[in-house]
Amino acid sequence: MKTLNQSKTLRVDLGERSYDIVIGKNLINRAGKYLRPHLSEPRVLTITDENVAAHWLEPYKASLVAENICGSEMVLPPGEKTKSFGQLKRVIEWVLQTGVDRKTVLVALGGGVIGDLVGFAAAIALRGIPLIQIPTTLLAQVDSSVGGKTAIDTPQGKNLVGAFYQPRLVLADLTTLDTLPLRQILAGYAEVIKYGLINNPDFFEWCETNGSDLINGDLGLRAHAVEKSCFIKAQVVARDEREAGLRALLNLGHTFGHAFEVEVGFGKKLLHGEAVAMGTIAAFEFSQRLGLCSGQDVVRIREHFRAVGLPIDISSVVTKKWTTDKLIHHMGKDKKVEANVLTFILARGIGSAFVSKNVKIQDLRIHLDNLLK
Ligand code: NAD
Ligand code: GLY
Repeated sequence: MKTLNQSKTLRVDLGERSYDIVIGKNLINRAGKYLRPHLSEPRVLTITDENVAAHWLEPYKASLVAENICGSEMVLPPGEKTKSFGQLKRVIEWVLQTGVDRKTVLVALGGGVIGDLVGFAAAIALRGIPLIQIPTTLLAQVDSSVGGKTAIDTPQGKNLVGAFYQPRLVLADLTTLDTLPLRQILAGYAEVIKYGLINNPDFFEWCETNGSDLINGDLGLRAHAVEKSCFIKAQVVARDEREAGLRALLNLGHTFGHAFEVEVGFGKKLLHGEAVAMGTIAAFEFSQRLGLCSGQDVVRIREHFRAVGLPIDISSVVTKKWTTDKLIHHMGKDKKVEANVLTFILARGIGSAFVSKNVKIQDLRIHLDNLLK
């Protein structure tokens, strides 16, 4: 196992909203030091979930004390269902009751659920208070903590209520991944592979070689995956912060994946990253059906997913209640729909994803009928 002595800092270049992503080990123990320069008063409000609190809240709080920073913490239930109006209300009321002003910093300590929810709360409390992301899942370190997308889910679909709101700092402590269950590591790894499949075929090849060791805990490989993913995402976000075009590529597998998640119902049965994995395979197979992508590439991707233990087929979650019409309905609710035309991220091969705005519903119907057979 490689050792990793130094942290690495990447910059998300967004003019006056630029910020650093610091990646390294044991950063939580020094969080207070990293937060300090971003505080106008020695006080932060931190929101986390029960699982993260059990492992990481004490060392985090100790790091604040060491810097004479006064902290208040709120601990929420874990899981996708926490990304709701109900929990948003709780967070906002707690924030307001503590007597914040526009300079008070809100810290999201947790995975993508906490990051998305707390990020949205920061965006709307007092019309915007400073936000710092301390991501503690692989998924959040490689994707959700970077780029400023914040949101909650509604019964109508995922992430339909939210805001673009950039953090002031992202502190990605690789050590926190030591307590993350394997299933969650795998779910995050689905988003790592995504960067290779979109436009970095060399990185996909790197994943094929190193994916299993990374998943099994190699810190050096995890560091490389988080750095590379954040580097790619930071470049995309710098060029297209509000998803006018290029950024949509980061949604590879998500239109299918979100439809699967809505159909299953948000919860433990199907994790977001697992839905993305199944959705990615579905997107490549759909591209193959449309004559865009070779069968060899699809086989190669399926083989890598299978080798590391990622779910490939929806058969493990699908029930008799699933129908093509329902899935199309969920896709229609997805925010990537513009003027009743279904937008899909399709691929001409590994590393050659593109945005297609003219996907015929009939082609999609045939593909989904086949998936549900
Ligand atoms: P999550 O936040 O639910 O975390 C997964 C589980 O791991 C939870 O049970 C959590 O309590 C636990 N956990 C977190 N850190 C831990 C740690 N270090 N040790 C032990 N347990 C820990 O899920 P996630 O996969 O991190 O995020 C999924 C969410 O991210 C979805 O809602 C998805 O929509 C969102 N997302 C957002 C973006 C974006 O750009 N904003 C991008 C991708 C995904
Ligand atoms: N995860 C997709 C995006 O940030 O745009």
